[in-house]
Amino acid sequence: MKNKNILIIVTGSIAAYKACEVVRLLRKEGAQVQVMMSRAAQEFVGKATFAALTNNEVITEIFPDTPKAGLEHIEMAIDLDAIVVVPATANTLCKVANGVADDIVSTTLSVCEQPTLFAPAMNFRMWQNQASMDAVEKLRNRGFLILDPEEGKLASLHEGEGRLPEIKDIMNGIRTLFEIPLPLKGKKVLVTAGPTREAIDPVRFISNRSSGKMGYAIAKSARDLGAAVTLITGPTALADVAEVSMIKVETAETMAEEVQNHCPSADYLFMTAAVADYIPAKPSSEKLKRSDKADSLKLKPAVDILKSIKGKTKGMTISFALETSNGEEEAMRKLSQKGVDFVVLNYANEPGSGFDSETNRVVIFDTAGNKKELKKDRKDRIANQLIDFVLNKTSKKTQAV
Ligand SMILES: Cc1cc2nc3c(=O)[nH]c(=O)nc-3n(C[C@H](O)[C@H](O)[C@H](O)COP(=O)(O)O)c2cc1C
Repeated sequence: MKNKNILIIVTGSIAAYKACEVVRLLRKEGAQVQVMMSRAAQEFVGKATFAALTNNEVITEIFPDTPKAGLEHIEMAIDLDAIVVVPATANTLCKVANGVADDIVSTTLSVCEQPTLFAPAMNFRMWQNQASMDAVEKLRNRGFLILDPEEGKLASLHEGEGRLPEIKDIMNGIRTLFEIPLPLKGKKVLVTAGPTREAIDPVRFISNRSSGKMGYAIAKSARDLGAAVTLITGPTALADVAEVSMIKVETAETMAEEVQNHCPSADYLFMTAAVADYIPAKPSSEKLKRSDKADSLKLKPAVDILKSIKGKTKGMTISFALETSNGEEEAMRKLSQKGVDFVVLNYANEPGSGFDSETNRVVIFDTAGNKKELKKDRKDRIANQLIDFVLNKTSKKTQAV
């Protein structure tokens, strides 16, 4: 969405504060955002918040005290790439559907012809009101994108349909306005990332150098392609990925439990985490002291996550293998023994590759014996190419069936 000009219109719903997150995420993706607020919206969030978030003046008046030379709402219509009404009240939906233009919001919406998305939020009775239903139908017939509100607890503590759609669905809706393809729309993607930590005693642990960057990049990329993403991550220094369900774990055991819980519903599993192979056999409940003369540490094998989910998921499983030598043999062994569909091999001892690097070079192997190298590139680009490759291969498989 880089350099797209997007008008965010905030109307008077209790969910108005959630528009702040949409603005923040759009800016983060490189879009230029202009905010317009209805009078009622300003009862819920101050315009200073949106001014600060956008670095732009907020438009609130059709007849400002110091009128500008041109007509702001008409001028704006020329430069915009898209309009997003978030949250959209019943009042605004009904007004726009019926051509009412009595304030800055409805007047702008009556002038602009850009792709427009409405993210409604209201009490369930307002949503079910015949006037609202007629308005939504009219607007949909005119080609506007109206998201369905979510069902659940409303601000009034009533249960019902009327909650603002989830931020990730609003962001995906905006992506569809720009016809950005969403090949993973409706799909669930499970990603594991980062290292695990295995306690030796309450203050020490065994871990590895995984930064989590590759897994986080895959989670972001899958999210941008429309997937509902769950990221199960060991301890990393990375910021949470927006619009992704983050599950934070420490040990191989807890990571395995979470993967087992989530794998049955996943369509794709990207197993990027560097999970411990061996863990301390008997972690001490007290800090080990020098005087304990503990000069050896007894280890036992950690749970094998891939083995533990074999047969429990119908999803495509893509497993990473990090090696220092004989990578190809190890990749083939994983493919044949662990029931995975793809193995992504990367080397820990190659400059600009593997752990804690901004870049990676990987070789993808599949069960049909194909092999594809992705040349050294930034991890976010590798993530895009990897997902592309997997989607390509899997759609060919489905076609062949
Ligand atoms: C506390 C409170 C919460 C409200 N929440 C909503 C809401 O979520 N959705 C809605 O359609 N109207 C809601 N309203 C009513 C609208 O604010 C009202 O219809 C207003 O005229 C909408 O104007 P606008 O569409 O120009 O913003 C709420 C009103 C109050 C007082």
